Amino acid sequence: MNVVILAAGMGKRMQSALPKVLHPLAGKPLLSHVIDTAQSLSPSRLCVIYGHGGAAVLELLARRPETIAAALQEPQLGTGHAVRQALPELDENVPTLILYGDVPLTSVAALRALVAAAGPDQLAILTVEQDDPFGLGRIVRENGKIVRIVEQKDANEAERAIREINSGIMVAPTARLKQWLGALQNNNAQGEFYLTDIVAMAVADGVSVVSAQPSAVWEVAGVNSKVQLAELERIHQGNIARRLLEQGVTLLDPARLDVRGELICGRDVSIDVGCIFEGKVELADGVSIGAHSVIVNARIGAGANIKPFCHIEQAVVGAASIIGPYARLRPGTELAEDVHIGNFVEIKNSQIAAHSKANHLAYVGDATVGSRVNIGAGTITCNYDGANKFRTVIEDDAFIGSDSQLIAPVTVGKGATLGAGTTLSKDAPAGQLTISRARQVSIEGWTRPVKVKK
Ligand code: UD1
Ligand code: CA
Repeated sequence: MNVVILAAGMGKRMQSALPKVLHPLAGKPLLSHVIDTAQSLSPSRLCVIYGHGGAAVLELLARRPETIAAALQEPQLGTGHAVRQALPELDENVPTLILYGDVPLTSVAALRALVAAAGPDQLAILTVEQDDPFGLGRIVRENGKIVRIVEQKDANEAERAIREINSGIMVAPTARLKQWLGALQNNNAQGEFYLTDIVAMAVADGVSVVSAQPSAVWEVAGVNSKVQLAELERIHQGNIARRLLEQGVTLLDPARLDVRGELICGRDVSIDVGCIFEGKVELADGVSIGAHSVIVNARIGAGANIKPFCHIEQAVVGAASIIGPYARLRPGTELAEDVHIGNFVEIKNSQIAAHSKANHLAYVGDATVGSRVNIGAGTITCNYDGANKFRTVIEDDAFIGSDSQLIAPVTVGKGATLGAGTTLSKDAPAGQLTISRARQVSIEGWTRPVKVKK
């Protein structure tokens, strides 16, 4: 099968410099949703029709792993004219499925049903019944059979009362499609070459026109404005939340969850309200995610407890670890089992071995931390000299006193203790106490200054 995706329209009502089909839904451009759906049908040819914001659309296509054909439609003279631009890319021996770059949520099941209904030589249209069909093309039937589609602007009173609408998505036999598109006229209310006019042509040629229906109206809903984009986002998020609930995930409020990517959950996972998951996130068995956490491309180990307000990105959290509240795990963070990272602690590009703790107000960057290490409040790895970054190594069982600065490159040996307030600029030997602060003195007989009377 061939697939053509129409994505040339400018989307004026989005009120944006970004081409409409590049606006994200669940963190992914509308057009990428449609391409992903098309790819799951394994088409032999796939062609995207672009126009407005063409360079950005081509960049999106170039970033994808597969090669996708693209055809420029300039100027945009209607949906029929748009499909015509794809003709040189299409294989005449297989049917062509036409999709829309701004209709992101069509299910693969609905498209398979449509393709099956069309068979090798019929025209098939994905239609739905709408309570308010205003603005859409109406399906005109005679004796139950589809005979043509009439656009809102061209329809008479009786036709406007029809509630079965054209989603725009259709499958056509390709050789016929070429003939029909070549014969399109633009003598209609909008002066456009309507793709929908091929329906009457098919009927005239004795080709039967059939229909299929998706399981929900939102499957064919298009995005023309930010309002519609927001509505579809909620529907999509609702679908994701329902799927998670069905898998046994506890969602404290399914209406307050955002998944912008792939969220893989084990058994007995619990997610509190207001969390955002981006990219690929894996939550192992028994993980609990506190309210208002943002987790991006991360793996959270079994039984880990992420308390509220954490930001975790490109990080691995070990089993039974306790993170937050208010912790930030930046890219390259790898925490082993039972690590505790508390409030206002930032970890970047560091490995922390099992049973270690940094419970309050610390920055650990470019560090390798052993097991059972205690990092006191206010500890900072000084990993950056303004030009280069260096590593800090803290070996097993070390104790870093509060408010210490570790000036990298530097190593704290196994079992070493740093006194509070140490500025460590040389390695601290294993097993010893290292302190860099001045000795404490008390001055006997010292008196406070008093205010001089003027
Ligand atoms: C079209 C259908 C209408 C259907 C509706 C569903 C026609 C004539 N009408 O309406 O029956 O109910 O879709 O939403 O086909 N596009 C191009 N190039 C163009 C014109 C459009 O690429 O020259 C693309 C747009 O970017 C959009 C899609 O085609 O993705 C549909 O265009 P739009 O103007 O939204 O639909 P209508 O023509 O109003
Ligand atoms: Ca139009």
